[in-house]
Amino acid sequence: MKILVTGGAGYIGSHTCVALLEAGYEVVVADNLCNSRAETIERIEEISGKKVSFYQIDVTKEQLVEEVFAQHDFSGVIHFAGLKAVGESVEKPLEYYYNNTVSTMVLAKMCQKYGVDRFVFSSSATVYGENKVPFVETMPLLPATNPYGATKAISERILTDVAKANPNWSVALLRYFNPVGAHESGLIGEVPTGIPNNLMPYITQVAKGKLPKLRVYGNDYPTVDGTGVRDYIHVMDLAEGHVVALEKLTSGVHIYNLGTGQGTSVLQLVQAFTEATGIEIPYEIVDRRPGDIAVCYADVSKAERELGWKARRSIVDMCRDAWNFEKNFTS
Ligand code: NAD
Ligand code: WQD
Repeated sequence: MKILVTGGAGYIGSHTCVALLEAGYEVVVADNLCNSRAETIERIEEISGKKVSFYQIDVTKEQLVEEVFAQHDFSGVIHFAGLKAVGESVEKPLEYYYNNTVSTMVLAKMCQKYGVDRFVFSSSATVYGENKVPFVETMPLLPATNPYGATKAISERILTDVAKANPNWSVALLRYFNPVGAHESGLIGEVPTGIPNNLMPYITQVAKGKLPKLRVYGNDYPTVDGTGVRDYIHVMDLAEGHVVALEKLTSGVHIYNLGTGQGTSVLQLVQAFTEATGIEIPYEIVDRRPGDIAVCYADVSKAERELGWKARRSIVDMCRDAWNFEKNFTS
């Protein structure tokens, strides 16, 4: 069975390629490398001991995508390709709307044309907005507060409508919580461009001495220690969730939260990092970051019940593997 993985050179996509190859799938990656490196494809091959077909193309370009569909007989598509920086999406809304929604439409169109009826889409917990925790798949979504979040809600809607028009289609809308960590080999992981926006890569760069100290955005939230609470999930657990979704998917549209169901505060994550690595992280408390919510964690019972999937790795595992990647990483 051959799977098209768009964005397969990126952070979550590369780990999912490894999980797919290990599960016996053939993998074809389409990625324009706008936020990743060709070397990652070699590393996926090194870890898995298997070959990957790689096309360096922009998946918003219909003709280029069609050439890939014409050359392969795909059993399914996993669509990771997208722009993901929330702050940047506010500055460059058109780039985000165009890239993230046109790519979804082009791929859906090619799936229709070439009879590929399994589609797995990278959505995000961001579509829930500031809802009541834990976030459950049946909750009405709140309007997105930034263009990035809107592109996820719009893509979910597009795929839902296309699936309605194609009753043989099976679509999984996977809402990721906060993916962190790296493959245990340390060969692939998250490579942020510039100063990281996200907490875990910021911590690992402070640990490495690339950044002087962590700035903790607010300690006056109504949480265990006043700092923001999130549902961090190990990227390999997330990757394995995609393989299971692909295998278990039945016709129709299925939405699954992929998280652990556990909330961890910023300071708890800092403490877990020290526990995992022995490295102290200097930090200062600063103002809240605009747009942040206090608490976000998943109700994960649907994925467990319907897919038989559950995240297995702990917060300490996530910190250890994130550090194992960062400490060996040279750019
Ligand atoms: P990433 O930036 O590491 O990977 C995305 C990949 O897509 C990159 O390799 C990039 O080069 C490629 N890409 C972007 N636009 C493209 C285009 N038009 N054509 C071809 N390739 C293109 O990001 P990631 O963290 O691996 O995220 C993967 C997906 O998961 C994204 O859709 C993202 O929005 C979603 N997501 C990520 C998170 C997170 O915290 N990392 C959380 C929820 C959802
Ligand atoms: C986590 C916590 C911060 C950095 C973002 C996107 C979301 C999703 C995942 C794609 C918060 C605090 C952070 C720092 C800090 N992406 N923090 N100092 O904001 O939950 O989610 O990535 O879909 O859409 O918004 O993740 O890692 O940025 O922040 O104190 O330097 O860490 O305030 O409480 P977030 P994050």
